[in-house]
Amino acid sequence: MSPFITESDLSLTEEQFIQVSNAIYNHCGINLHDGKKTLVRARLAKRLRQSDFSNVSEYIDFALSAEGNKEFHSLVDSISTNLTSFFREKVHFDYLKNNFLPQLLSSGKNSIRVWSAGCSSGEEPYTLAITLLETCGDYSGCDIKILATDVSREILDRARHGTYEKKKVAPLNPQQRQQYLVPNVIEGHKVYQVKNNLRNLIRFNYLNLMEQWPFRGPFDVIFCRNVMIYFDKPTQEKLINRFYDCLAPGGLLCIGHSESLTGINHKYRYVLPATYLKP
Ligand SMILES: C[S@@+](CC[C@H](N)C(=O)[O-])C[C@H]1O[C@@H](n2cnc3c(N)ncnc32)[C@H](O)[C@@H]1O
Repeated sequence: MSPFITESDLSLTEEQFIQVSNAIYNHCGINLHDGKKTLVRARLAKRLRQSDFSNVSEYIDFALSAEGNKEFHSLVDSISTNLTSFFREKVHFDYLKNNFLPQLLSSGKNSIRVWSAGCSSGEEPYTLAITLLETCGDYSGCDIKILATDVSREILDRARHGTYEKKKVAPLNPQQRQQYLVPNVIEGHKVYQVKNNLRNLIRFNYLNLMEQWPFRGPFDVIFCRNVMIYFDKPTQEKLINRFYDCLAPGGLLCIGHSESLTGINHKYRYVLPATYLKP
């Protein structure tokens, strides 16, 4: 960082805030309302300190230009949250294991297609893989494929790598840790790496949910949890209905428990909180 950067170089005018928030909204649907101004200012200041720009104005001009595309993505990554964990909102995995998958399998289905949309660092699709293996394991020949997508290339690299600190894998029981993870030591830290029996079921791809999707499904299960919370209602409604078109009849949609379809026009059947079926 330039030693000459002052507090006023880091200040963010209302106009600049609107410029940045509009660009982020148009790129990935994240709705940065007025209450997020402090967050945006802090993240801009952080990016500025890590670069050669001498003030916010110069930085914004670059990040929003065609040549600053990479920097713009880093800015979006620093503003959006990637918080996730193994077996997060466990009731969804319990519902899959105890209700949805047994019914699907007993109907004679032997191929299962799942989409984790907004998969972050991979804990969600790996948990889905564990749940599917544990439930469909007895059905030899059951073909399982999980598509895991995110708008952040950086977070997808971490997901593909599948390496987690010891405390991150605590939600897995000892048998699951033994069956699906390999312990390792990296730079003196105990970590766990995902084994190929999980990895081989998942394809990690870049996908911005706001853009065209290069597939139409049908998926049996779509998880899009804790992603729409950052979108406004019209964006949520559009997305929810696009998911509907990608689901097979009888397919399952899980959203985050702090998200809601209230006030959204949709055709799903409510099953449990944050759990919906396509009739
Ligand atoms: C809080 S994480 C949720 C992770 C996981 N689904 C869970 O519930 O634990 C939100 C993720 O959504 C991704 N995301 C945000 N906007 C997106 C968009 N327009 N398209 C695809 N992914 C997006 C972010 O990059 C982030 O990794």
